[in-house]
Amino acid sequence: MNKIILLGYMGCGKSTIAKLLAQETGLPFMDLDDIIEQRENNSIKSIFEVKGEIYFRKIEHAILTELSVSSESFVLSLGGGTPCYANNHELLIGSGISSIYLKASISELYDRLVQNKAKRPLIAAMKNEDLEEFIAKHLFERSFFYTKAKYTVHIDGKSPQTVVAEIETLLV
Ligand code: S3P
Repeated sequence: MNKIILLGYMGCGKSTIAKLLAQETGLPFMDLDDIIEQRENNSIKSIFEVKGEIYFRKIEHAILTELSVSSESFVLSLGGGTPCYANNHELLIGSGISSIYLKASISELYDRLVQNKAKRPLIAAMKNEDLEEFIAKHLFERSFFYTKAKYTVHIDGKSPQTVVAEIETLLV
């Protein structure tokens, strides 16, 4: 069993890197937000709006638990908040699990997220001038959980291919 789990703040490239890594390793690609959307038959944005964040966090925890006890192998990208709720960070260190924190600086995250706020309920309505400070505080709070991952890879200024190659050297 080989479970590779990518985590990190919104906009750090978890899904893009996970897809590429899945191609390289031949493992199936899975994205936790996609699975939630399929199960709920609804977008993340709408789940937050209609049912609320607590409901979303319950489903997120239930699906991550299900995946981590299954005998399946995969490359899984988490949502940015996944490790920070319901003790999910404890699911990142079991046997057969390689968890990787894709670590980005505040300015790199700002540059990426300012273009892509709309589908992310936590920042969709935020003014651009408030975004950088929000990321700084939020990342500070969340770093405790992100750093529970088995490995950390710095992603600033690197292409997805370079990040994937670095991850592969960690996993051999
Ligand atoms: C969230 C990040 C999102 C998604 C949800 C909540 C968060 O995933 O799970 O909007 O709490 O940071 P991405 O990191 O893929 O944007």
